[in-house]
Order: sequence, then structure tokens, then C-alpha cells
Amino acid sequence: MKSEKIEISGNGFRYQVLVGAGLMAEAGELIRERFAGSHCAIIADENCVRLFGARVQDNLVEQGFQPVTIVISPGENSKSLKAIERICDKMIAAGLDRTSFIVGLGGGVVGDVSGFVASIFHRGIPHIQVPTTLLAMVDSAIGGKTGVNVQSGKNLIGAFHHPSLVIADVDALDSLPPQELRQGYAEIIKHGIIRDAEMLRDLRDEKAMDRAKLICRNIAIKAQIVSMDDRDISGERALLNFGHTIGHAIERVADFEMPHGECVSLGMVAACHVSIKRAGLSAEELDQVVGLLQKFDLPTQLSREIRRRQILETIRRDKKFERGEIRFVVVPRLGSAHVSREVTMEDLREAIAQL
Ligand code: GLY
Repeated sequence: MKSEKIEISGNGFRYQVLVGAGLMAEAGELIRERFAGSHCAIIADENCVRLFGARVQDNLVEQGFQPVTIVISPGENSKSLKAIERICDKMIAAGLDRTSFIVGLGGGVVGDVSGFVASIFHRGIPHIQVPTTLLAMVDSAIGGKTGVNVQSGKNLIGAFHHPSLVIADVDALDSLPPQELRQGYAEIIKHGIIRDAEMLRDLRDEKAMDRAKLICRNIAIKAQIVSMDDRDISGERALLNFGHTIGHAIERVADFEMPHGECVSLGMVAACHVSIKRAGLSAEELDQVVGLLQKFDLPTQLSREIRRRQILETIRRDKKFERGEIRFVVVPRLGSAHVSREVTMEDLREAIAQL
């Protein structure tokens, strides 16, 4: 089966992302070409085990691997230290050691959990990501950030642990409900806004865009940013937070009942308003962004139940802004972004008021 191959490398890491149709049924071969060893764990949620588990497991067995499948519940509740301990115990009981590897089969939660386990099991073993959602293919499977939630907040405990291989089988998207696909399009539109105005035009003009090509284009954008700043230090990686400051606050105010991509969609509209005031984005470009988000059924206006003042309060309480300085990603024009230190709380209030 023909697949596209993208190389990602940076300071101390290098791996390939394979994108194509039907790749899950060849996962064993693709892994065998690159990895020795025998014992491995497939970490997947219940839905992915039902839909894809046998396909991946059988192929691993055919290639001489001895996989154990460890099932987690779908959703954020699985991102806990308790779940991590339970998974590690099962892996030890199944005979995995420091020569073993982990296959994370699923969306963002599975990627975070399986990646974090891989980062700490015997002080670190290879992590192979098999993303099954559009969001995971274009975003969360790439980048190496892994983590779980604790009482004090989301993703506060984790590690940088890049995958050793990513296998993105675009056929997995056929079983994805439209609401899940939308979450991926929010991040795709974000990539276009910060780096690729031409992709935004293609999405808007409905140019026949092959799904695998669109995914590759987005992986390349994220890869390029991560390669420059994988530890989130120099500021390049911060550009990926476009729309996320206000988006995360909306997510919290909505008690995490509104999906991430939809919150980011609203956050991006607000960030465009800030960009008009602080970076010279035109009102016409804001309209183009709004039109595109609406085209993919993403929200561009806040529902009445969500209190605007609470969003601002949540941002104010955010530890990142404790010293009063907001580092906010703005876009002077579509396809280009930078971090601004000039944005004020009043700018955010005005932008949120326009949602
Ligand atoms: N694992 C997601 C990221 O590093 O961005």
C-alpha cells in the first residue's frame, strides 16, 4: 500500500510519520522493519479496541511480536496517575521489560496516556503512535508532549517523550462521527492561520484536496514548528497556542463539556479580534476565518449560558499570567503569527465581548 513518509527531527530526536490508507493492517510489518524485540503493549480505549484492535494485534502476532492489549476507558478520566500505575502493573505482569515498546492506538487521550507510560516504564521505552482521529493525526500524535491530569489541573504531570514512529491510517477516519472530525478541522484551520494562508484558500474554495495530502500538509506544519522548539522554550512552539488562551478558558468555564476544538474555534475568533487591534489583521481576514470555521460547523459565537466575565476571570487566574504579563499569539495577516507582549486584559475583554 502506498504511503507518504514525513521525517521529523530536532534536538536529539528523529522519527517518521507514515500516512496512508490501510496502514493499520500492516502495522506489524512497518514496526518489524524498524524494531527488534518481542513483547509489546497495545494501549487503546474500548472503542478503538472494538474497531481496530484485532487488526493491529493480529498483524503484530504475524510478525512474531507478543502483544498484550491494555484497555482504558474513553475520555479524560483515564488521564490519571492511578490509570498509569494500573497500566504499568499490567505491563510488568505481561513480561514487558526495557526492550519492549508500546503502541498507542486511539485519539488524544490514548496518545497522552500511552506516551507518558512509555516515558517512565523502565525509565523510557519506544512509543509508537497509531492515531485514529483527525485531531490526533494532524496534532496530538506529533510533538512529544505527554501527560495526565491531577486535582490541581490538566496536563500538569508529564514528560517530553517523542514517538519513535507514527502510523496514520486515513481509513480510520471513515468511522469517525462528524463531531469528532470537526475537532480536527479546528486545529487544521489554526495551522493555516499561523503558517499556511494558501491551505486556508484551498479549504475555502473546496479545491479537491486529497485527505491524506491534507493530513501530511498539517503534519509538516506542526513538525516544522516542533523541530525548532520541541521543549517549548524559544517561543516558536508557543505559536501553536493560537486561539488556545481564550479557548482553554472557555473549556474550563463550560466544565469541559464543550469539545476542545469548538472552544479553540471560539478562541481563534477572539484572537483574530485582538489581532485586528494589536497586529493589523484586516476585518476582511477575520470574516474569512469566521466563514471557514462555519463551513466546518465550528462555533464562532458564544452561547448565552457561558458568562463572558467568567472567561476573563479564568484567564486572570491562569498561573501563566500571574505576573500580569500576557504572552498572546497574534496574526498580522493570515499565514503569519508571532507572540505579542502588548496585549492587555482589556483587549481580551473587548474580544470576548464580540463573541
Ligand atoms: N503530543 C502533543 C504535542 O506534543 O503537541
